[in-house]
Amino acid sequence: MTVVVFGSINLDLVVEVPRLPVKGETVIGKRFFSAAGGKAANQAAAIAKLGIPVRLIGQIGQDNFGQTLIESLQAVGVNTDGITVNPHTYSGVASIVVDDTGANTIACAAGANNLVREKEIEQFKIILPQAKIVLLELGIPIATVLMAARAAKAHDCFLILDPAPVRSDLPEELYSLVDVITPNEVEASQLVGFTVDGVTTARQAASFIHQMGVKNVIITLGEQGAFCSSEEDSFWMKPIPVSVVDTVAAGDAFNGALAVALASGKSLKEAVQWGTVGGALAVTKNGAQSSLPSKDSFHQLLNQQALLA
Ligand code: RIB
Repeated sequence: MTVVVFGSINLDLVVEVPRLPVKGETVIGKRFFSAAGGKAANQAAAIAKLGIPVRLIGQIGQDNFGQTLIESLQAVGVNTDGITVNPHTYSGVASIVVDDTGANTIACAAGANNLVREKEIEQFKIILPQAKIVLLELGIPIATVLMAARAAKAHDCFLILDPAPVRSDLPEELYSLVDVITPNEVEASQLVGFTVDGVTTARQAASFIHQMGVKNVIITLGEQGAFCSSEEDSFWMKPIPVSVVDTVAAGDAFNGALAVALASGKSLKEAVQWGTVGGALAVTKNGAQSSLPSKDSFHQLLNQQALLA
């Protein structure tokens, strides 16, 4: 097992609308669909689809949503042995609204994700000796994230943290355990306390996050590409122009492809390029796991980018 993803699993209930409603407003939707989601589940699915063995650790409720989620993860090759089923709660649900530009708002009812604790940590510790790379996100209790980060570092794993859903009160210790942090602009803004809206402010934010103890900072900037800062290098990765349909899970596709590249021995710069390709392809399709690229389409776009460089 090369990669382990630890975190949230949701069923996404998606309404497509012409524009996002403002506070207190009801907007009539155009279409509804449900899709497998949850940040950690999406990242694990992205990794499996790109052909790397991956195990997901998390929790679902004993309900139809949970069963659907497990089946769709298994269908793309994710090892789900580390997912516990809790008969006393419901599976995580995300209520998502997507507008005509592909922008979205998401509200989650965490359900079982909120109860991810010692039992899942035990599962995680069993698999860690075989893991090279660990991905964490914040859709589960922060105390559990911290326990998982400590365990991952005790086994010398390379630790990627997607700080989403973002919170500004991340424990200082967590920053010091993380090898790569991957906020988007909104998340980076909340972490540093000033607006991050392009390469200049991303550079300032990265420097701030380095001071918190993280060695490598990658800030994804949507249609402006991504900015990466490490101890050796800092660079801007230009965006790949695509027709945006739905931005849900673009960050998860980025993180998944980043992890696959690093697990395959690529440099950080190549890994950011792989992440950018994953994110670009994910926004061209609807839904979370349903939008994740196949290995063929991924390598086709990656090769095209290499020819353009
Ligand atoms: O990153 C996208 C995911 O965020 C969705 O699939 C939804 O479940 C929320 O957790």
